[in-house]
Amino acid sequence: MPWRRPGKKAERPVNVSRAIEESLEDIAAGDEEDDSVELADVDGASIIEAVSGEVDAESREPSPLAEQLARIDLSESASVTPIRSADRPEAGVDLAVDAARGLRLRNPVLTASGTFGQGVEYAELFDVARLGAIVNKGTTVLARPGNPQYRIAETPSGILNSIGLENPGAAGVARKYAKAWAQLGVPVIVNVAGYSVDDYVTVVSEFAGITSVVAYELNISCPNVKGGMLFGFDPDLAGQVTAAVKQETDLPVIVKLTPNAPDVVAVARAIEQAGADGLTAINTVLGMRIDIQKKRPVLGSGSGGLSGPAIRPIAVHITYQVAQAVSIPIIGAGGVTCADDALEFLMAGASAVQVGTATFADPLAPIRVIEGLAAYVRSHGLSSIRDVIGIALPSRGGDA
Ligand SMILES: Cc1cc2nc3c(=O)[nH]c(=O)nc-3n(C[C@H](O)[C@H](O)[C@H](O)COP(=O)(O)O)c2cc1C
Repeated sequence: MPWRRPGKKAERPVNVSRAIEESLEDIAAGDEEDDSVELADVDGASIIEAVSGEVDAESREPSPLAEQLARIDLSESASVTPIRSADRPEAGVDLAVDAARGLRLRNPVLTASGTFGQGVEYAELFDVARLGAIVNKGTTVLARPGNPQYRIAETPSGILNSIGLENPGAAGVARKYAKAWAQLGVPVIVNVAGYSVDDYVTVVSEFAGITSVVAYELNISCPNVKGGMLFGFDPDLAGQVTAAVKQETDLPVIVKLTPNAPDVVAVARAIEQAGADGLTAINTVLGMRIDIQKKRPVLGSGSGGLSGPAIRPIAVHITYQVAQAVSIPIIGAGGVTCADDALEFLMAGASAVQVGTATFADPLAPIRVIEGLAAYVRSHGLSSIRDVIGIALPSRGGDA
């Protein structure tokens, strides 16, 4: 496999052409003979299918996508000539925020993981250096071909997705994008996914020394291969992965909460106690659509993750609850389409926001959010956008 770093013990080979459950079971069996992998059911689909998403097929031929991934030449650096915009209506307005401990950004608007590629794809469309930061596509130790089609389905005010963490693997991403990211002139946050604590640590280690990488965001909506429980469902597991990554890097570590956890606030507290520098609230909400002609789920993996404006009230609610339970900064995510949406999150206690699904309809949505926030600061005579952070919280006179 061309994308594997030779001789690295921590990298356990996953055959991307096979169902992930098979591969994961093989790995677990090899790692620890007695460890049986149990996959809990969520909405009739296994956790792996439903959340990080993998096929339920007994076996399948390599997909065209898997073959395509295998052909990608990751030894070649991506190159980019970014657009620079002279016209920046937000200039002169203090939009700076601490999106996490030790992570001061020029403004509170980030792009959400999985909705903005590796950032370079957008650099010829608009001046990405105007963004607070970009979060790259979820990155795993080894390449993953992702899920079978369909991977995206429309829903009222949102979309369901089950991409299955398609990515070329950490070493390949680091090698291919390090130079291009430096050319973008925007801070990059690497979104990390894995199936064991070691996976998260290994991915982070691959990006060490890349100067444009300013922080890590841990996607903990992934099943732990030992036991099948999602990292993000369990306060102990979430704490373990946070603490291990904190040991590996001096950069800020942000952990992304899943709204599907039985007690999100308890998970958030455990993550803070384990040393995280910030939280992202939230990842997608589990959902499903059925094709009534075929009498089958629309998505290839059955269930998927709901995003877009449909989940905004859930995300604002979780932000509001978590903000009262922790003292580290929170980045709000879920259905932000405009500055008013972003203000809801900021007033609920978020220090920054991510724009995700909205960029599919309008790639310039994050820029419009920045401009709208600047206009708000000006028209309300504020000294900075920081004045609105948490203003709706009970401690600041909002309703409990
Ligand atoms: C197509 C798609 C792919 C995504 N991939 C990832 C991912 O790789 N890692 C991750 O942490 N979140 C991923 N997400 C979740 C988003 O980053 C975000 O948390 C969520 O979509 C809510 O924000 P939004 O409503 O603005 O899209 C993905 C979302 C979508 C729609």
